[in-house]
Amino acid sequence: MCILDVEDLSVKYATRSGLLTAVNHISFSLMQGTTLGIVGESGSGKSQLAMALMGLLDTSARQTGKIIFDGQTISDFDRTQRRHINGNRIAMVFQDPMSALNPYLSLATQMTEVLMVHQQMRYKQALEQSITMLAECGIDEPKTRIHSYPHEFSGGMRQRILIATALLCRPALLIADEPTTALDVSMQAQILDLLKQVQHQQKMTLIVITHDFGVVASLCDQVMVMYGGQVMEYGLVAELLQQPLHPYTQGLLESMPTLKKTGKQLYSMPGDPPDPVYLPQGCPFEPRCRQRLAECKTIKPEPVIAENAGMVFCHAAS
Ligand SMILES: Nc1ncnc2c1ncn2[C@@H]1O[C@H](COP(=O)(O)OP(=O)(O)OP(=O)(O)O)[C@@H](O)[C@H]1O
Ligand SMILES: [Mg+2]
Repeated sequence: MCILDVEDLSVKYATRSGLLTAVNHISFSLMQGTTLGIVGESGSGKSQLAMALMGLLDTSARQTGKIIFDGQTISDFDRTQRRHINGNRIAMVFQDPMSALNPYLSLATQMTEVLMVHQQMRYKQALEQSITMLAECGIDEPKTRIHSYPHEFSGGMRQRILIATALLCRPALLIADEPTTALDVSMQAQILDLLKQVQHQQKMTLIVITHDFGVVASLCDQVMVMYGGQVMEYGLVAELLQQPLHPYTQGLLESMPTLKKTGKQLYSMPGDPPDPVYLPQGCPFEPRCRQRLAECKTIKPEPVIAENAGMVFCHAAS
């Protein structure tokens, strides 16, 4: 069953220097219980896409397009209608774990409130459920530690707490924005295992935003590569990692350290991502592309369905 359908989604902001395009005509759909990885360099629009899915964009944002979740067009919902869904059916683990937790409130207060608001639980039951969820997410002695404050935990533990809070209402869709970026390697692996385990147990649909193809390889079924607010390539992880079709994806993968590349010089992609106020008329990657053709500058590539059923937005790949 298709749980999420995004149709021609764009997010723009009026800025002093002109209209800034953060997300540019993105469409994709997601089957229930699958995991989508979204990768791309800093500023490519990953978090803005996630915030649009959550209905949490700044009030100054101009959003167009459709978001259909579980049969409902949630992009038409107002803030009150969204509040019934957010934290309940769709939840998010935000990019910055420290600012996502309120430093002045104990975990007990923050976590129980979610259940009391969304599931009309009484405090005692909400507290029990929160303790169970902390335990499931690997927090030791949850019965006492739930009365602690966010600063009493390490970065890795705070990330577990955020995941536990997001999972309290057993959401159908979880969006995790860079859930492991701030963590050391062993903690990263533990958090990825935790996400894998809860996703499997709860048959939850998961969207993971990351810079790291390692995270994509270990966690995701599909991957979407973004650049300049647009999709460059979309496909099944196994196939896309084996045979990336877009020159941008190829460049990203070549610039990633792996054991096989030990001793070799890593590829470094020349140039910088485009300014989102002055996006090129054609493909946003054209100025940095090793395979650019004459038309790339002026004509936006239409999606090409590849042999492996992936989709690539590139003139050179068609
Ligand atoms: N409130 C806002 N007003 C104007 N522009 C914004 C606003 N929020 C984000 N942007 C712009 O939208 C673009 C996309 O930002 P976004 O945060 O989605 O990138 P990202 O891919 O998540 O990057 P990172 O990997 O660094 O987290 C950026 O150019 C950013 O400056
Ligand atoms: Mg981001």
